[in-house]
Amino acid sequence: MAGPSQEDIDTVQRGIERRVAIDPELEQILEAEPRTALALTRYGIRLANQGEAEAGCEMLGLAVLLGPDEPVIWYGRGMVQSAAGAFRDAVESYRQALRFAPAMAQAWAGIGFALAKLEAFEDAAEAYGAALSIDPGQGRLRHDLGVVRLRQRRYEDAVRELRAAERHGPADAGLVSNLAVALFQSGAVKEAAAAYAQLRLLDPEGADMRENSAFVTFIAALLEGPIENAVTVYGIRAGVAHPDRRALFKAAIAYLVGQGWAAPAAAVAQAWAAMDPSDPEPAFALTAARGDSAVSAAPRDYVVALYDSFADSFDAKLVGELNYRIPERLVAFIRPHLPPDRMLDILDLGCGTGLSGVPLKPLAKRLVGIDLSPRMIAKARARGVYDALEVAEITDYLQAHPGTFDLVTAADVVIYLGDLAPLFAGAAQALRQGGFFVLSAETGAGSGWSLLPSGRFAHSQAYLAALAPPAFGLRATLPTHIRFEGKAEVPGAICLYEKIG
Ligand SMILES: C[S@@+](CC[C@H](N)C(=O)[O-])C[C@H]1O[C@@H](n2cnc3c(N)ncnc32)[C@H](O)[C@@H]1O
Repeated sequence: MAGPSQEDIDTVQRGIERRVAIDPELEQILEAEPRTALALTRYGIRLANQGEAEAGCEMLGLAVLLGPDEPVIWYGRGMVQSAAGAFRDAVESYRQALRFAPAMAQAWAGIGFALAKLEAFEDAAEAYGAALSIDPGQGRLRHDLGVVRLRQRRYEDAVRELRAAERHGPADAGLVSNLAVALFQSGAVKEAAAAYAQLRLLDPEGADMRENSAFVTFIAALLEGPIENAVTVYGIRAGVAHPDRRALFKAAIAYLVGQGWAAPAAAVAQAWAAMDPSDPEPAFALTAARGDSAVSAAPRDYVVALYDSFADSFDAKLVGELNYRIPERLVAFIRPHLPPDRMLDILDLGCGTGLSGVPLKPLAKRLVGIDLSPRMIAKARARGVYDALEVAEITDYLQAHPGTFDLVTAADVVIYLGDLAPLFAGAAQALRQGGFFVLSAETGAGSGWSLLPSGRFAHSQAYLAALAPPAFGLRATLPTHIRFEGKAEVPGAICLYEKIG
């Protein structure tokens, strides 16, 4: 391999002079290490470790000019780029290191780390897998791979990797904490409780430790005996004399339903409903957990209570945690079907916090949003994209506005309606001839619809197609995932109808 060009040498010289003017110690470092490229590498890594990642990157940029075929230098460059948050560049540098040293496990590990930061989790897992196939004894890499699986909600896989990491050395609090979460989310409640017991010894003051540990202990006790005992155990573990039963029971039902455990969810809902028979949330949670097939829509007071209490955290939870992307997906899906040059009168049913309003706005002459929950409407108003917002019920509103809209949207809303016939009749009324109606639905088996233990309704593809005639033609369907629930993605579909009748 040819050495560096004169131009590169000059560039390095100028870079060194600039840096020596800021930090004269570099001169001594260069004197002590005759290989300038290595001296710059070590110095750059030291800068990055001291929090000067940008300067570190600059030094490593000079080092690779002098040693363009030295894997250690490329690896060092990847490290400082990672430290600077330049994760894509870091991946490239680590790949360069691997070109010259294919068995460099730590370069694969570096790629895994950078890709995980970029949330390219599957690729990150592959990179960690490559590192481990070179160096299987690296418990830390098993841990890192386990964390990636945790982020992917592949909880059983996470448990397997984290257990393997445990076997490689003394468990630290971070490892046991991740293991406890993975076990709990995978449904291994007793083992999760044992992991929390271990964690309490390792890190008694850990963030959220007390609350998480108490909740897991509550679920474990609930699955074994009377709910009153479970509440007592929770109170002791959480260190509170009078636990907030409402919050505790609500969280427990969400967890149990996410695991597919309808019977204990029903037991919790029953205890919750007994606390206040007029509270619509436990009443409907109980109906849903019992699988009552006679209910054709979620009660209005239930929807209001649920979403008024959810409004503040809705966006963070749905978009941030549960990977809810229906609004953007729905608008991208219908766009090619809409008239290209015409601005539309659009009605966004169950608009919630207005997530759909943002991608709908560029298509709108007038954009109206309605929702049952006043606090969701307030959030949508704060977004500033709707021309009008109203607290209203879907079918009532549609019936009161005949021939008013060109496009009606219902993103993740029919999950609160079982029988969709009134909705379709209302949409047909409110739309102009040739107008469009688009909805997203959770899809289920069979030929009709069903109330799920989650309190949401699923509709079969056959039912969604059968609703179209005579007022609508089903123009297009897109099978999709709606969001995560527990450890699984919820299957669904986006359906676009055109008013023809
Ligand atoms: C899962 S959120 C979806 C919100 C929004 N469309 C989105 O995609 O982010 C469901 C929304 O539908 C509203 N909703 C449910 N049933 C309704 C009904 N019958 N009439 C009006 N709004 C309803 C709820 O209040 C809630 O804001």
